[in-house]
Amino acid sequence: MLSLLLHLQGIESVVLESHARAYVEERVRAGVLEQGTVDLLTEMGVGERLKKQGLVHHGVHLRFGRQTRRIDFADLTGGKGVTIYSQHEVIKDLIAARIVTGGKILFEVEDARIRDFEDGGMVSKRPRISFKHQGVAQELECDFIAGCDGYHGICRPSIPEGALTIFERTYPFAWLGILAEAPPSMEELIYANSERGFALLSMRSPQISRLYVQCDPEEDIANWPDEKIWKELHARLASDDGWKLTEGPVIQKGITGMRSFVVEPMRYGKLFLAGDAAHIVPPTGAKGLNLAVADVRVLARALEEFYRRGNAKGLEEYSAKCLRRVWKVQRFSWWMTSMLHKFPDENAFDHRRQVAELDYITSSRAGQTTLAENYVGLPFD
Ligand code: PHB
Repeated sequence: MLSLLLHLQGIESVVLESHARAYVEERVRAGVLEQGTVDLLTEMGVGERLKKQGLVHHGVHLRFGRQTRRIDFADLTGGKGVTIYSQHEVIKDLIAARIVTGGKILFEVEDARIRDFEDGGMVSKRPRISFKHQGVAQELECDFIAGCDGYHGICRPSIPEGALTIFERTYPFAWLGILAEAPPSMEELIYANSERGFALLSMRSPQISRLYVQCDPEEDIANWPDEKIWKELHARLASDDGWKLTEGPVIQKGITGMRSFVVEPMRYGKLFLAGDAAHIVPPTGAKGLNLAVADVRVLARALEEFYRRGNAKGLEEYSAKCLRRVWKVQRFSWWMTSMLHKFPDENAFDHRRQVAELDYITSSRAGQTTLAENYVGLPFD
């Protein structure tokens, strides 16, 4: 995304990817795009398949106490919505667009290391990235490095200890997710708070459902045969309005831990961290991908300003500007998580309070608006 944004401003970049192209183009990750993400992809000229295949949702359902309440995004946010379109499809579109425009993307890069990115003081050095590609050791010299390499990447750990402050929270549960060959049982997503724990009905296409149940973080997927997952989904998603869950063959399953993580600042000298390299959100608000997109949009604009007018102000303000959004999105994801999950130490008071919060949020227009405007995405600026 960053590489294409830069190219559109005439700025050269090289993408170093440790995985194979087929791997990143097929790995199932997120699937909900905020309105702003969709608009940006469209402006960048990569919105064609998204427009054809994406499923536009103008609302979402919250289910609790066996009742379903809809939050009407379109009505509450002036016509905005979200689009269901898989992250790996976005990746395919971006890679194709970047290759057509002559971009350099090196796949299966090994042993990447970065150096000389700290602010050089009087004698400013140029950052360097050394790596191996197709067995050949190489080195790149550049003006800036963007650390878009995820939580487990090499960029953040390359920053001297002591320069960064870490803020984190782990949750006492995880999500067990499946992809099923079953038409989605509802046109829009259902987030369910039940006495047995959280469940989510989502989708990838008109033929494929994506479903999750909250589970223990230490859970072994081997203990969850398909029948047990369906049984739990039926129980947690049960409602009194005649709704039925459609089953189908499970084509993929896995367990994802839940964490909130932020590192400050998001810049060290000429190294800029973006996306999961700088922050992780629990998946309950579907924000991870969208937050990464917001980061690189800020970075691309700052770099454009620097190269066009020699103005480094945007680069200096990059971290503070991104973090303002990051923390709002952290708050939203934490709030959705807290409101919808069953906590192991919760008592009857806590559960009643959760239900009261869901009742308030779904029945007051102010409550509905706070959920809707965060879900469709806060404004970029
Ligand atoms: C998904 O479809 O994978 C999904 C949807 C909504 C979420 C999280 C994940 O909040």
